[in-house]
Amino acid sequence: GAAVGVIVAVDGPAGSGKSSVSRAAAAALGYDFLDTGAAYRALAWRVLEQGADPEDATAVERALDGFAFESAGDPAERWVRVDGVDVTDAIRTPSVTAAVSGIARVPAVRTRLNDGFRARLAAAEPGVVAEGRDITTVVAPHADVRVLLTASPEVRAARRAKELPDEDRSAVARSMAERDAKDSRVVDFLEAAEGVTTLDSTDLDFDGTVDALVALVRQTADVE
Ligand code: DC
Repeated sequence: GAAVGVIVAVDGPAGSGKSSVSRAAAAALGYDFLDTGAAYRALAWRVLEQGADPEDATAVERALDGFAFESAGDPAERWVRVDGVDVTDAIRTPSVTAAVSGIARVPAVRTRLNDGFRARLAAAEPGVVAEGRDITTVVAPHADVRVLLTASPEVRAARRAKELPDEDRSAVARSMAERDAKDSRVVDFLEAAEGVTTLDSTDLDFDGTVDALVALVRQTADVE
């Protein structure tokens, strides 16, 4: 294709470690990093900022008008800006998390964001790790390396609970399962598509998972 760099596509459910693992693998490889969920979150933030209803598709489409998403910096310390405003922390709040599944369902949103993602992938040199829900299937089905990062539901819930010490474990497991169910109605990220390698991190620690992903890239993409 037109891309010059190595494209690594990583999909997976919440709590699979996909975001932190992809970030660390990108840093280890010296690649760019693209967190596509951050773009969906940024748009959800904008919808809420405009006082619009995230379940109202027309209002959501309106929020696409002039939506300027920027993200850069070290993979480990990425900032996100919308309309010039730093929203790095704001897009991780519970209100944005609750609104984002609704906006991600709007077809015009997916089309528009995907165009931006593909432009970014095509420009990445020497490579990019892009993570999300539909990178291996829709955004970059011809990526050099395609990985589905999974873990058992129990391990995913436990990892999330560790990030949020105040929430009780069963509430975390329940809200995670609900979000996965909602999100997987839009794109299937629970089953590996043909040609996609499943990397199961259930019995791996963080470093072990990063090493496995980096090894897969080196072996598949034939890079140093
Ligand atoms: O990975 P995350 O939690 O930051 O993703 C935020 C939301 O965006 C999630 O509810 C699903 C949606 N999403 C999507 O539909 N497609 C993507 N490629 C990435 C995220």
